[in-house]
Amino acid sequence: MSPFTYRGGELHCGPVSLRDIAAEAGTPVYVYSASAILERFLAYERAFADAPHLVCYAVKANGNLAVLKLLADAGAGFDIVSGGELFRVLKAGGDPSKVVFSGVGKTADEMALALRHGIHSFNCESLPELELLSQVASSLGSRARVAIRVNPDVDAATHPYISTGLRQHKFGIDIDQVERTYHKARLLPALLVEGVSCHIGSQILDTTPIEEAAAILLTLVEKLRAQGFAINALDLGGGLGVPYQAGQQRPEISAFAGALRRLASGAGLTLMVEPGRSIVAEAGVLLTRVLYRKSGAAKEFVIVDAGMNDLIRPALYQAHHEILPVAEAPAAILADIVGPVCETGDFLAHARSLPDLHPGDLLAVATAGAYAFAQASNYNSRPRPAEVLVEENSFRIVRRRETYDDLIRGETVGCAVR
Ligand code: LLP
Repeated sequence: MSPFTYRGGELHCGPVSLRDIAAEAGTPVYVYSASAILERFLAYERAFADAPHLVCYAVKANGNLAVLKLLADAGAGFDIVSGGELFRVLKAGGDPSKVVFSGVGKTADEMALALRHGIHSFNCESLPELELLSQVASSLGSRARVAIRVNPDVDAATHPYISTGLRQHKFGIDIDQVERTYHKARLLPALLVEGVSCHIGSQILDTTPIEEAAAILLTLVEKLRAQGFAINALDLGGGLGVPYQAGQQRPEISAFAGALRRLASGAGLTLMVEPGRSIVAEAGVLLTRVLYRKSGAAKEFVIVDAGMNDLIRPALYQAHHEILPVAEAPAAILADIVGPVCETGDFLAHARSLPDLHPGDLLAVATAGAYAFAQASNYNSRPRPAEVLVEENSFRIVRRRETYDDLIRGETVGCAVR
């Protein structure tokens, strides 16, 4: 159940009033429910409980330190795609031995950092990457555990920008070439080639394609084992979608995990998953305040203090986020909800039925716990919003609002280097 519900006509996060949060933290502000995040992580843990497994939360979805700490304390592993994400995980007290490093463009420095901290494994996506990793590991006198990310050529049936498992995508190694790559990787001295991985896309509402990919990978595992590879882990990436819109079906974590467990039963593999969105998306809202109403020639506009720099998903993926008035009232207008940024693409929602809003009224942009603050920028020199975590009946600011000084940190009008 969503942690965001109306109590006495006012939207709350659990027992905490969003109006109180806005009064204390200002707007725009991201609000996350700790219990909702934990509930989703524990749903994954429960669903895989009777099989060897590792649930690695995808840090890219929401890397706030308090969110990571919550998950680290609950025993989560982490899926990272940069040295910066590893830095965050370590700062939050995450266990490096449960960290998997994904991504197509790891640098030697990032590899070295991860090796020095003894991460679980690397998901590698090309032969040159495998060669570099072996060199870096050799130079540190260590060995890197690797899985090769397979591109299984399966259509995830999601938005094209977040679909990653087709032949034409930059991700993974083509299923038809991957055995050759395993053989080449085996010859590299500082690698332990122990896993098979894939990630076919994100916001997947029908999980059949992930199960299809799993079946393809399991066949590969059999072939590799027959050729003497000691494969002990199968990582199926993330991808489980969430309902952004009324009427969308939610794929159940337990059913999804059950299908994977059945497919892999008896294979003697540690099952790994890298969920991001399905853990945090529904646990968050972006709280914004109405600045102005404006009746255009063709449309009604509600201008709010959050823009595309704060939440780029509508502009970038035509994503739908429900807009909820904090004060419950019947719908009276049909309006576009737009931000202050100087682009027509700066909108949070188009043609929504909302109450008769006035300057100062609060709106909550729903399902904003994932890929929301994480993709925020300072475009138009707008300080990024604060982030608040609600725990039981209290809340705390877990990232203060940026200041103008934050905007220019690191910049200089100083002299040329040479
Ligand atoms: N593992 C890998 C290797 C990934 O690339 C991703 C997401 C995940 C796991 C986590 O996937 P999830 O469980 O969250 O679907 N910015 C986009 C989403 C980009 C997803 C990128 N990769 C959005 O706002 O929809």
